[in-house]
Amino acid sequence: MLVIASANRDPQQFADPDVLKIKRQEIRHLAFGQGIHFCLGAPLARLEGQIGLTTLLRRLPKLQLAIPTADIQWNPQLVL
Ligand code: HEM
Repeated sequence: MLVIASANRDPQQFADPDVLKIKRQEIRHLAFGQGIHFCLGAPLARLEGQIGLTTLLRRLPKLQLAIPTADIQWNPQLVL
């Protein structure tokens, strides 16, 4: 089974793969697939993400976790 989330955290492809680096230069991820079946909605999804995150951070500039990072429960699902 292909695990895209794992491929997107491949340490041979991305330095510090588990660190959120908003200005990351190496961004050849597989989140939208690859090749002939590359996601048709990728431009829309990117635009929505940009608008959504920008609006969220503008409206809630002090947004932060309510619990310590160490207490976050990870979702053990294979796909996402
Ligand atoms: C963050 C949002 C999204 C993610 C992560 C995502 C991810 C993907 C991935 C990984 C594939 C490839 C599946 C495969 O190879 O079998 C795919 C295909 C596809 N996506 Fe998305 N998608 C997103 C949003 C959207 C949106 C908003 C639309 C439409 C408005 C859309 C329409 C499609 C279609 C039609 C395909 C099939 C393309 C084909 O098989 O030729 N996706 N998507």
